Amino acid sequence: MEKLRFGIVGTGTIAHRFARAVGNTKGAVLAAVASRTKAKADAFGDEFGVPCRFGSYEEMAQSDLIDAAYVAVPHSLHPACSILMTEHGKHVLCEKPMAVNQKEARRMFASAERNGVLLTEAMWARLVPGTLKMLELVNEGVLGEILGVEGKFCYAMDADEMDHHVLKNEYGGGALLDVGCYGLHFASWYLGGKIAHISAEANTYAKTDCHTSVLLKYESGAIAELSCATLLRKPNEGFVYGTKGYARLPRFYAPEEIVLELESGRKTLSLPYAGNGFEEQIGHFCDCVRQGLTESPLIPHRQTLDMLALSDRIRAMIGISYPQDEAR
Ligand SMILES: NC(=O)c1ccc[n+]([C@@H]2O[C@H](COP(=O)([O-])OP(=O)(O)OC[C@H]3O[C@@H](n4cnc5c(N)ncnc54)[C@H](OP(=O)(O)O)[C@@H]3O)[C@@H](O)[C@H]2O)c1
Repeated sequence: MEKLRFGIVGTGTIAHRFARAVGNTKGAVLAAVASRTKAKADAFGDEFGVPCRFGSYEEMAQSDLIDAAYVAVPHSLHPACSILMTEHGKHVLCEKPMAVNQKEARRMFASAERNGVLLTEAMWARLVPGTLKMLELVNEGVLGEILGVEGKFCYAMDADEMDHHVLKNEYGGGALLDVGCYGLHFASWYLGGKIAHISAEANTYAKTDCHTSVLLKYESGAIAELSCATLLRKPNEGFVYGTKGYARLPRFYAPEEIVLELESGRKTLSLPYAGNGFEEQIGHFCDCVRQGLTESPLIPHRQTLDMLALSDRIRAMIGISYPQDEAR
């Protein structure tokens, strides 16, 4: 079977990680890269041996040389870049968060559906071996009934990075969208059901949230305790608590190790990524395209929309809004 030909939109940090991962996969090939400037596209192309380099995103969208686009630009630009690609019949793997609010994500899915192409949020963490194993353990009842989860994803930008788009409101900056989205997805994987009550507190920097804590109480009674930050370091770990014990997950949202603390004692499981953690999502995306799916069964549109609706509600509570929230 022919390999899926990917084109990358943007040449930043995460585009580099994706390019390295594509090289480790069997089903995909890096066919093109698009940048706002041809010089950057050429530099990226030289680094990864990419044959086609475009000096604008539009040119790549119009090209017949790619089947799928990986959108790796700041969050606020995800809708425009993804829709540009879907309107030209390209499948799209769009970086997280899919958009800054649910309304924008709906527009993106509508375009993909109209054009009969696959559009998936790059929630790679859902597909790594550690997450698959945790879900299997929970479904088998190893931890008993799940009553709570906890997860902290907090980092501090360096003093010379204060101009980064993650600290700018106009780019959809802020901790909740940048890394808090992992916690929200994580909680939904293990708790599910309806949320009865939300409470949230945040500190802000330049109209973005820079340290946010959220408590979600589900109708089942289970509680999720989540925190995220862009200007504060905390140990990035999480827990899944059940009636028979708990699991400690270093880098909780995409763990390579699971430490089970059960009545019978401690058990440590090692679950390394196939490469840098993106190979699994690239393989899954290729499988979906080959099966003619327009939605991933593991990262369904509903999941992305629900998590954005939740972050919309949390943002309203902590007083963070984006220009896109006002747009009709
Ligand atoms: N999955 C993960 O683990 C992960 C990790 C980090 C980030 N991300 C996500 O990936 C996306 C990109 O993050 P990143 O860390 O790669 O950002 P980055 O290093 O700043 O790169 C973003 C790229 O977007 C392009 N771009 C287009 N318009 C831009 C603008 N106005 N300002 C800045 N860049 C612009 C640029 O490429 P050109 O100039 O070449 O066009 C730039 O290199 C974000 O949505 C983020 O949430 C995901």
